[in-house]
Amino acid sequence: MGPNSVQATAHRLLVFVLLLLGSCPEVAVGAVAPRQNTSPLTRERLSLNAGWRFQRFTSNPDNLSYSKLKAWILPSASSYIKDASSRALRPAGQPTNVTYAQATFDDKSWDALNLPHDWAVKGPFYTGSNAVIGGGMGRLPIQGVGWYRKKFTLTSTDQGKGIFLEVDGAMSYVMVWLNGNFVGGWPYGYASFQLDLTSYVQQGDNQLAIRLENAVDSSRFYPGAGIYRNVWLTKVSTTHVQYHGTWISSRQVSEESATLDLVVQVENTGSASQTDLQIATDIHVFQGGKIGEKVGQFPTAKVQVGSAKTASVNSSVTLSNPRLWGPKPSQTPNLYVAVTRVLSNNQTIDEYTTRFGIRSVQYTADGVKVNGERIYLQGVCQHHDLGSIGSAFIVSAAKRQLEMLQEMGSNAVRTSHNPPAPELLDLADEMGFLILDEIFDTWNSGKRTNDFHLIFPDWHEADLRSFIRRDRNHPSVVMWSYGNEVAEQRSSSGANTARMLQDILHEEDPTRLGTIAMDNATPTSAITSVVDIIGLNYQGEGRGTGQPTFPNFRSAFPNKMIFSTESSSGISTRGTYLFPVTSSNSATEDDTPGNGGDANNSYVSSYDLYAVSWGASPDKVFVSQDKYPYVGGEFVWTGWDYIGEPTPYDSSRSSYFGIIDLAGFPKDRYYLYQSRWNPTVRMAHILPHWNWPERVGLVTPVHVFSSADKAELFLNGVSQGVVNKKAPSDYRFRWDKVTYQPGKLEVVTYKNGSFWANATVATTGDATQLKLSSYKNRDSIRGDGNDLAFISVGVSDKDGNVVPRTDPSISFSVQGPGEIVSTDNGNPTDFVPFPSKERKAFGGLALAIVRATGESGTITVTATSKGLTTGTFTLKVV
Ligand SMILES: *[C@@H]1O[C@H](CO)[C@@H](O)[C@H](O)[C@H]1NC(C)=O
Ligand SMILES: *[C@@H]1O[C@H](CO)[C@@H](O)[C@H](O)[C@H]1NC(C)=O
Ligand SMILES: *[C@@H]1O[C@H](CO)[C@@H](O)[C@H](O)[C@H]1NC(C)=O
Ligand SMILES: *[C@@H]1O[C@H](CO)[C@@H](O)[C@H](O)[C@H]1NC(C)=O
Ligand SMILES: *[C@@H]1O[C@H](CO)[C@@H](O)[C@H](O)[C@H]1NC(C)=O
Ligand SMILES: *[C@@H]1O[C@H](CO)[C@@H](O)[C@H](O)[C@H]1NC(C)=O
Ligand SMILES: *[C@@H]1O[C@H](CO)[C@@H](O)[C@H](O)[C@H]1NC(C)=O
Repeated sequence: MGPNSVQATAHRLLVFVLLLLGSCPEVAVGAVAPRQNTSPLTRERLSLNAGWRFQRFTSNPDNLSYSKLKAWILPSASSYIKDASSRALRPAGQPTNVTYAQATFDDKSWDALNLPHDWAVKGPFYTGSNAVIGGGMGRLPIQGVGWYRKKFTLTSTDQGKGIFLEVDGAMSYVMVWLNGNFVGGWPYGYASFQLDLTSYVQQGDNQLAIRLENAVDSSRFYPGAGIYRNVWLTKVSTTHVQYHGTWISSRQVSEESATLDLVVQVENTGSASQTDLQIATDIHVFQGGKIGEKVGQFPTAKVQVGSAKTASVNSSVTLSNPRLWGPKPSQTPNLYVAVTRVLSNNQTIDEYTTRFGIRSVQYTADGVKVNGERIYLQGVCQHHDLGSIGSAFIVSAAKRQLEMLQEMGSNAVRTSHNPPAPELLDLADEMGFLILDEIFDTWNSGKRTNDFHLIFPDWHEADLRSFIRRDRNHPSVVMWSYGNEVAEQRSSSGANTARMLQDILHEEDPTRLGTIAMDNATPTSAITSVVDIIGLNYQGEGRGTGQPTFPNFRSAFPNKMIFSTESSSGISTRGTYLFPVTSSNSATEDDTPGNGGDANNSYVSSYDLYAVSWGASPDKVFVSQDKYPYVGGEFVWTGWDYIGEPTPYDSSRSSYFGIIDLAGFPKDRYYLYQSRWNPTVRMAHILPHWNWPERVGLVTPVHVFSSADKAELFLNGVSQGVVNKKAPSDYRFRWDKVTYQPGKLEVVTYKNGSFWANATVATTGDATQLKLSSYKNRDSIRGDGNDLAFISVGVSDKDGNVVPRTDPSISFSVQGPGEIVSTDNGNPTDFVPFPSKERKAFGGLALAIVRATGESGTITVTATSKGLTTGTFTLKVV
């Protein structure tokens, strides 16, 4: 996101307190619960998001590089390296004197901004086939070096405390200096990590400086750029609960009782041994975003921790009548919070909270069971970007993504192919999603010249252990994925790497199983016998015209769970329909008639029967899933469109795979998935639109998505026939011989002999007006600068119907204490930069994302377009 106003900055502090309430698994207790003691050493976790200076350089400004400083960076990972003899030791002294890290450096001319920040998303887009950042990476300027600088102040009350920096994610090759001294770093841009600043801090002002670097050709998809997640400063007693240092798991779980096992890792970064420590942990319900009543406690344990050492404490407790966490809609996502206190000589010196849930997970040959109930995975894969706001993680944008997926009936998300923002898992915990938490897209063999394979040998252990320690308290996480379509799937070295990674995973978390997404391993590949769970990309259901491989894996591994880690890869451009339409239930997309592609415009037909050559339509995937009922479900590629990977048209800037487009407008197949995944919704969805002046008298197929089993279509009152949807092959109603004439299409559907739902699509009048609406009809926005309003514009006729194929340019403006963050229309070929206030409609729709700048009042969003009645929408700042 771009620089915020000064006012937004002032209001940031409030945001962080609010964020703390609902977001992080470790929550600074001071912000959420009345403090029980007055110890001066209670933990403080302060947001460092506000008030940064930033400069991006397209050529190296400082002669630094990861390889130059590697010896100083590797020790940042030492606490995650199990074999003590392999831990890197920091060289003596400082690496070099770096101008941009000095407190005296004058950064006044640099950009002023707040985090989270993605320096690339504002563009401009690179176009053409030789672009330095091409279609795959989203044509946005991620490359180069970015320097971020910020001052923070410590007072005498901070003396003697441990001072830690926590970074939830920064892209990439992070290097950190404090007061000119090099502190450490972490290269993987999706990782969360902590650095100990204590030996470099001083009373008064402290100058923090962070260097990031992104190479060209470093990713297959849009990685974003910059410090794109939250950054925190933790002040705590030098004896404290370690970063991500608690772990709570449950066993013997039933409605009547559950046994909880707690491990607390205590760290002493001070110079004196601690010989009389007690660790006490209370259990509270988590209710309404707050710590609620206490319902139990773990037995208090004693521990000693020497200087510069850690020690762990285990204890267990059995809770009766636990309120279990389970996925929606059949179960309820109840949460608990553990409040852990470290006491020294009976005085509390640290308080640390851990949000968790109580539930059981079993992995059976017939899929995953949560609390004994088989949950068929109705999943989607999601990249980490949030459309036109880029990779900068904003909770309300991620929440909108998940809400729309949940309404569609999705119950699971795969975080393809990297660790997500911690707050995404908090949302999943609260909303009752299951998460397939994935960490790597490459191992030793790269997919791109400069991708993660370069540092896999040095970093896989630290990245994997820290990832699991960060995420294992989330009840939503039900499986780990430690690789996606890795190049080593069929080699014996690949099987060895898989075993090594999976062993680490089992050490860090014996309660969950691991998988990898295998697109070309076979039942006889060595790796297949290594993985706990068989995760198949596309091959299971049968890619293209190929046969499903589910039965081959099943007969080779009758006791392993099998599911589709990645399915379908259907592609389409919202609102775009091409003729003729394939008569098949799935076709490989190309640019020949009937195969869905329009190379002239880089559009793919939205009849949603077309897929890439390695994929299949949703309908064909459903056939396979149902034919092999032992399959545990699927993760569709993808839930939402994302920046980059614009297959099949590399000249574009964003994907065609999404069930929902980049702006958040559902494509037709949203309703196909809803009809299968959320079948109690009384819904019938007709496609295409009915504005085809050039098709009068031509065959124009009409398809309907509904969970009904019988439907009759009428065109201008004339029946086009009754269609019965017959298992196991039909997942849509099709009338493929309708002859177009303008007017009204109506479908009436029936389920089990009774009326179910009806729907109408009619030829519209000419566009006369712009109609604005707000996501979920929200008419207010939080003034903290971290809430977003999503305002849609429909280019409408006089009756208010959105007019398809009418894409005027729209100008957005805002009055009052707000600003337009970005605009979009979901068209993958639109190269107008995302922050632009001018946006053409696409398929009659456009979106503006609005943020409050801090003052109270009302924000009026206005959309104008030549010849059309202006539209407005008013938001109250709360
Ligand atoms: C970087 O290195 C080059 C050659 O090694 C040298 O000419 C240049 O002065 C250096 N720049 C800085 C900022 O140190
Ligand atoms: C590093 O830079 C600072 C500020 O420019 C300067 O005061 C200091 O002497 C330099 N140290 C070395 C070792 O060059
Ligand atoms: C504590 O729990 C951890 C994790 O389960 C385990 O590795 C360790 O052996 C346990 N320690 C004791 C003393 O039980
Ligand atoms: C800690 O508290 C307990 C119980 O109140 C007391 O028996 C004990 O003497 C106290 N220890 C110290 C070191 O104050
Ligand atoms: C693409 O353009 C060519 C030449 O104008 C035309 O013949 C063809 O029908 C167009 N294809 C589509 C799918 O519109
Ligand atoms: C279908 O209708 C029949 C008779 O009305 C009823 O007995 C049956 O339970 C219904 N089945 C379903 C799946 O609703
Ligand atoms: C559904 O059918 C009823 C009764 O014929 C009609 O009044 C209504 O307009 C129809 N709704 C739609 C969306 O077609």
